[in-house]
Amino acid sequence: MVATERPTPPTLPGFRLAARRITSMPGFLLKTTRERGHVVRFRLFRRYVYVVTEPSLVEEVLVSKAPAFIKGRGTQRLVGLIGRGLLSSEQPEHLRNRRLVQPAFHRKRIDGYGAIMIERSRAHAAGWEAGATIDVDGEMNRIALEIVSKSLFGRDLSGEVETVSHALDAAFSTFTFRMLPLAEWFDSAPIPPTRTLRAARAQLDALVYRMIAEHRAGDGDPDDLLSMLLASVDDDSGTLDDEGVRDEALTILLAGHETTANALAWAFYLLARDREVEERLHAHLHAVLGDRDPTVEDLPALDYTRAVFAETMRLYPPAWITSRLARKRVEIGPYVLEPGDIAMVSQYVSHRDARFFPDPERFDPDRWLGAAPPNFAYFPFGGGNRLCIGESFAWMEGILVIATIARRMRLARVDDAPVGTLPLVTLRPIAPIRLRVEPRSA
Ligand code: HEM
Repeated sequence: MVATERPTPPTLPGFRLAARRITSMPGFLLKTTRERGHVVRFRLFRRYVYVVTEPSLVEEVLVSKAPAFIKGRGTQRLVGLIGRGLLSSEQPEHLRNRRLVQPAFHRKRIDGYGAIMIERSRAHAAGWEAGATIDVDGEMNRIALEIVSKSLFGRDLSGEVETVSHALDAAFSTFTFRMLPLAEWFDSAPIPPTRTLRAARAQLDALVYRMIAEHRAGDGDPDDLLSMLLASVDDDSGTLDDEGVRDEALTILLAGHETTANALAWAFYLLARDREVEERLHAHLHAVLGDRDPTVEDLPALDYTRAVFAETMRLYPPAWITSRLARKRVEIGPYVLEPGDIAMVSQYVSHRDARFFPDPERFDPDRWLGAAPPNFAYFPFGGGNRLCIGESFAWMEGILVIATIARRMRLARVDDAPVGTLPLVTLRPIAPIRLRVEPRSA
């Protein structure tokens, strides 16, 4: 019997991917997909990198065929910074620890965090004087870090924001180097990227270990996430040790503020560039809230605010790419991936698919007031067993922060220059987003 040939997608030489500067990567993947199709592959040494943007096949990678994969190299290279918390661990530790952390994200608990989200936004906005220019990305970073640390760890980290930001900036600045082929060889060498990463890790470690010590000394809410993690060290079940608590806590602290802060900064950027949408948001907030701040009970009525946040994450998905490494032979659609092949899905590319989002570059929150797009045409929070544990937290935070700030003021653009993206671990703005504080129109 003659073996039937398996189809292969359009195949491009790997140097076209590997030699690319990181800043041009999202645009390059988008162009390649538009020109070559919704599955394209690059040959890298003896393996292939498959770029998969057909929704049903993205579902296979993230959900139905997920057991055939482990996390890709980008996440593995983060271990040097965040250790092996939920984001970077593999089975069986991942499932065991996910069960441990999950109660902190139950609906009822998240509702309780809403008051902190509103209070922190109000406190920061109160410090912005009319006419002043603010770096909105820096401000959103502060708000988001304070929200996650107060909600989940019962700690006020407002005095530590600069330390965390600097450590994270320093660590991310080494990311391009650390992603180079064979960079692992230099992980112990005393070269600048290794030294920078170690220093960043030491700073973050010191912060998290101090939080742990304070909690142990009785200074903390017995029901918060840190207490839950520490209880699993002390119950002798062998689930977590001190280092395990540090990894989980640091992962939540970083994953829980960097992403949301970027999404919020891009939201205010897009609003500042689209007067019509901004005015519509203001009218909607006025209709729902009058002259008061939002509460968690207002969330169902804040549908247009939600649409603004959803549309922002379509155009600027904080997690812009996700990769998985095949650990065994696996079929994705008609294609066969061999062990060691990589499946890449990109929210940045998928979210610009004109089949589901006509005129894809247009910022149009109205898209979200009608029928939803197909599954995995839009997936800012990933999917399957690695779905973002903070998804509900992030939606609530996004809506409440936008509503609390935008009902008080406009954040207007100071110039016409567009701000480009810096696609590292998350999709950051390449330069500060500077906006001017102005009173809201009546
Ligand atoms: C707009 C905000 C956010 C976005 C866009 C986002 C996006 C994502 C994505 C795409 C993943 C999956 C990564 C993968 O499949 O490899 C993920 C995982 C994760 N996120 Fe988020 N995230 C956000 C906010 C948060 C928040 C607020 C928290 C915690 C407070 C959080 C904690 C985590 C954790 C711990 C994981 C790993 C989950 C696991 O593998 O079990 N994220 N996030």
